[in-house]
Amino acid sequence: MADKAIITIDDKNFEMPIIKGSEGDLGFNIGKLRDDSGYITYDVGYKSTGSCTSKITFLDGEEGILRHRGYSIEDLASKCSFLEVSYLLIHGELPNKEQLDNYTKTISKHTLVHEDVKLVLNAYPTGAHPMGKLMAVMSMMSSFYPDSLNPHRSEGDIQLTITRLMAKMPTLCSMIYKHSIGHPMVYPDNSLNYVENYLKMTFGHVTEPFDCDPVIMDAMNKLLILHADHEQNCSASTVRMVGSSHANLYASISAGIAALWGPLHGGANQMVLEMLEEIKADGGDCVKAMERAKDKNSGFRLMGFGHRVYKNFDPRAKIIKVACDNVLNKLGVNDPLLDIAKQLEEIALKDDYFIERKLYPNVDFYSGIIYKALGFPTQMFTVLFALGRLPGWIAQWKEMRDNNEPISRPRQIYVGEPLRSFINLSDRK
Ligand code: ACO
Repeated sequence: MADKAIITIDDKNFEMPIIKGSEGDLGFNIGKLRDDSGYITYDVGYKSTGSCTSKITFLDGEEGILRHRGYSIEDLASKCSFLEVSYLLIHGELPNKEQLDNYTKTISKHTLVHEDVKLVLNAYPTGAHPMGKLMAVMSMMSSFYPDSLNPHRSEGDIQLTITRLMAKMPTLCSMIYKHSIGHPMVYPDNSLNYVENYLKMTFGHVTEPFDCDPVIMDAMNKLLILHADHEQNCSASTVRMVGSSHANLYASISAGIAALWGPLHGGANQMVLEMLEEIKADGGDCVKAMERAKDKNSGFRLMGFGHRVYKNFDPRAKIIKVACDNVLNKLGVNDPLLDIAKQLEEIALKDDYFIERKLYPNVDFYSGIIYKALGFPTQMFTVLFALGRLPGWIAQWKEMRDNNEPISRPRQIYVGEPLRSFINLSDRK
């Protein structure tokens, strides 16, 4: 295998060392290209650009493979708790029994959030989107813990911030939900496991005991694991980029939440359900919907389909589809939206437009149907994605910091006006 790449410009050769990982894409390091040649590379949307080396997640989009720290997503989703996977992502290894017990116990001691968070939520107008609130309360955390503002403090301090984040995120997410329906918050119950505690704070009532359905708990655990990390996606790259300026971890995660909100990224789960509802309201004509999705002038895309990296089945979508059938069967829910989703998938997989472009269902295509069956309102779907993605964001931020990566600062090709003479206000037309 070659150990260098050579770019020839005006008969001059510029050599760049090949970067080889343990598996997956090969790269070449263009870090000195501008200094040596005066040229930069141009790659809008980073379609062929690696921004870092990473040991966290391996993804092969052609083969539909996803692994965290070397473990397949299929194993993790079927054999682990969400907290175990979060430990794996953040610390690099699966915890042994003692480590897991300590981790769980430590997290359960930090689940309360400052009462003033309620004041901020109360300032929001009725109907405000929960992702906007989540961004705000996440960045607000840095005000309650000013010792976290300096990301270069001791490892112990960083660890405490990470513990606080993992512990308080379920509390914040459920408070946002309760606030949106005008109910009083249900305080954390630290005798419960992570997922059960979240479900109690969300679906429990202050005045009644909470009985958690194991089907719902299992489904929730699996969904959180399936969203836990996905290498250098838009929100993870945002967290790394913001963190590269040495912004604190809460601010970096808040930026990740903003990036996730967009409908082309995590916001797609809400859009999928709204799309399915719209198709149902329009008579359930899936063929018509597919024609619209292929028509570039319609402004309509098949939400939950396509992926920048997967050019084969998203392995998470495969697991979620099976989980979706199981959950709906076990809960005795018969959702016509699932039939519409299956019909759309069947048509798409046989349609030349989708085949040529290698467009397959992604993680968001079926997740919303499960969230709906579990009782979550559509606007909360992307918050659930964020709850699952938190350990991935933390792991990405920590790796960026541990690698002492420089500030992220892309270049550009300027295509605007060259220098012009200034025009005084009175002379402007
Ligand atoms: N429906 C219809 N056509 C599509 C779709 C879709 N969902 N996705 C891509 N295409 C078409 C594009 O129009 C384009 O066609 P063209 O080559 O004729 O111009 C081609 O497929 C390639 O699409 P791009 O948008 O260039 O691919 P990109 O990698 O930039 O975008 C993305 C990937 C954003 C996920 C895109 O597929 C999309 O918009 N999907 C719907 C939104 C969605 O489900 N997002 C969630 C992604 S998973 C996640 O973030 C958790």
